Amino acid sequence: MTNTDKHATEQVSSNPESRRDFLYFATAGAGVVATGAAVWPLINSMNPSADVLSLSTIRVDLSGMQRGQRITVSWQGKPVFVWRRAQEAINMARETPLDALIDQTDSAKENPNQTRDLPALDQNRTADEAGEWLVVIGICTHLGCVPVGQGSGDSLGEFGGWFCPCHGSHYDTSGRIRKGPAPRNLDIPRYTLANDLMLTIGA
Ligand code: FES
Repeated sequence: MTNTDKHATEQVSSNPESRRDFLYFATAGAGVVATGAAVWPLINSMNPSADVLSLSTIRVDLSGMQRGQRITVSWQGKPVFVWRRAQEAINMARETPLDALIDQTDSAKENPNQTRDLPALDQNRTADEAGEWLVVIGICTHLGCVPVGQGSGDSLGEFGGWFCPCHGSHYDTSGRIRKGPAPRNLDIPRYTLANDLMLTIGA
């Protein structure tokens, strides 16, 4: 491990009832994980320089997560939403035809786990074949607000995923833009998910 590798240190709150948990991580770029209508560039300005951030990775043990549970972690100064989806959410995402989507293609830049541009099908966006694990960057692709949906009682928007209250963008259970001004699906970070459910983001 290099000194730029940082590991999860503290679980701030856990409420299995709400299925919305938040984790704070001591990463090189970690500020406070933002929720609500925070504008990300403002928060991001407090973080270390890009050359430092570009090297950092974090590891998150997901083995304690329940079906339906969502957590937010901070990576390179950005909120990353991790969702262990229940079957209903998986079905909603997988039964959505491509032509119902506003942004029908995820480029390799938008999903660096792929080596080429792919249709924005849910199967191409999840960590596992069954679609239980979804990992997306929680920054609205319109003007950079942090969508709500991770917190208990948050609006999930009209498509069950996330809602950006800044200008009314609705994301579905795969993090794809379905309504509102955002032009693109939520980006996906580079990551690996091991068999023991250790998630490494940035590697
Ligand atoms: Fe999200 Fe404008 S920043 S809708």
